[in-house]
Amino acid sequence: MAGLRQTWLTHITTSMAVICRARNLGLGFAFPSITMSAARRAQGMNEIKTALRGEVSGFADDPRMSQTLPAAIYTSQKIFEFEIEKIFAKTWQFIGHKNDFREPGDFVTKEIGRDSVIVLRDREGELRAFHNVCRHRAHRLVSEKRGSLKVVITCPYHSWAYGLDGGLRPNSVKSDVYGFDPSKIALVPVRVEEYGSFVFINLDDDAPTMVEHCKGYDERLRSHFRDIDRPKHHSTMVYDVDCNWKVVMDNGIDAYHLGISGPHHQVFNRMCDFKNGRQIADDVSLALIGGPGDPNNEGYSFANKPDFWQSENFIDDLLFPAVFFLTFPYTDIIYVFDVIPVSAQTCRIEMLYYCVADELDETSLGAIRYMNEDLGPEDVDLNVGVQQGLNSRAYDAGRFMVDTAAGYDGEQLIHHFYRLWLAAFSDEDRARVLVMD
Ligand code: FES
Ligand SMILES: [Fe+2]
Repeated sequence: MAGLRQTWLTHITTSMAVICRARNLGLGFAFPSITMSAARRAQGMNEIKTALRGEVSGFADDPRMSQTLPAAIYTSQKIFEFEIEKIFAKTWQFIGHKNDFREPGDFVTKEIGRDSVIVLRDREGELRAFHNVCRHRAHRLVSEKRGSLKVVITCPYHSWAYGLDGGLRPNSVKSDVYGFDPSKIALVPVRVEEYGSFVFINLDDDAPTMVEHCKGYDERLRSHFRDIDRPKHHSTMVYDVDCNWKVVMDNGIDAYHLGISGPHHQVFNRMCDFKNGRQIADDVSLALIGGPGDPNNEGYSFANKPDFWQSENFIDDLLFPAVFFLTFPYTDIIYVFDVIPVSAQTCRIEMLYYCVADELDETSLGAIRYMNEDLGPEDVDLNVGVQQGLNSRAYDAGRFMVDTAAGYDGEQLIHHFYRLWLAAFSDEDRARVLVMD
């Protein structure tokens, strides 16, 4: 086996297009072979050693033989800022369900690095997105996360007013400023798309459309959920967590920890049947699916099924880079878990619950309570504990726990997440990541 071992260096200097082709994990898992010249390997090795001031991480293409990526990718502010530019400013970011924008003036805001974007339905029924910044002296326009605007967006500083089409209302500014034509001033637009039932934005004007990028992801979501079109926003739970955003992503697809990490996870492992579940990994997404387990578990009971439920399964589907679409067995919940990077050492988790019924049934309320009070806080504590350890001078990288068969409780999905992460960078970008600390 040692002869097959491939280093992280091998991996990152190889075209990710080769190794990120669609595949299913489990039976038939593909481990393509990749080669590179010894000279390039030696040169890159020096860069990594210098950059990370330690041993080379042995990230291998085969998850069964792979180390994790170095701790620096979770702790370096330079790498964090690079991720914002190369990943978050170039990929489609989750905004909400299309039902969040039913009426003119309905809006949602979203932070992407230092940028803030407002998405709204205008008077003509068109969905629009703008940078959430006043064109006068830059004050943020809207600070609320969601709500409904009346007729205009009014800046809190000097009361410049913008229509829902983004145009500045001339009567809201001084009328006789030399050479200043208010009719030429408008908010800076951002690309927005409705994809399936959800709304996404992209700061990159050159990015492919959601349809081009996602290659059938909407169909997969529709296969998970019985009715993805009707749910309305029920509530949002927000956690500000002292960890890098990727620690949360790792945890969210970590099949290894489910039956092990604390009492609420052990309940979860009885609630869902992961042995008879499924894992999916492709070029843009990953999914962890568990069948229904014991309906009388201590987390929430689904012995009494509600009139409407989305799935008999636990669904956990991650669209790269940072949003999960979930449901729990026999609940009227589509639960969107949106991870927002804040700094190298902090992130925000927004857990949005979408439900079909106006008044939620006991089973679904029980699942929300279990998530908000039991499983969620237990996972947050795990994430904070990992970040503390990643900052230790004693830790550089660990080993993915994946058995030979890449079975149901292995960490191969986390490994795949880093294939996607690495693929988001060009060869030149990856070389730059290596020289950051
Ligand atoms: S900064 Fe917005 S009106 Fe002055
Ligand atoms: Fe967990």
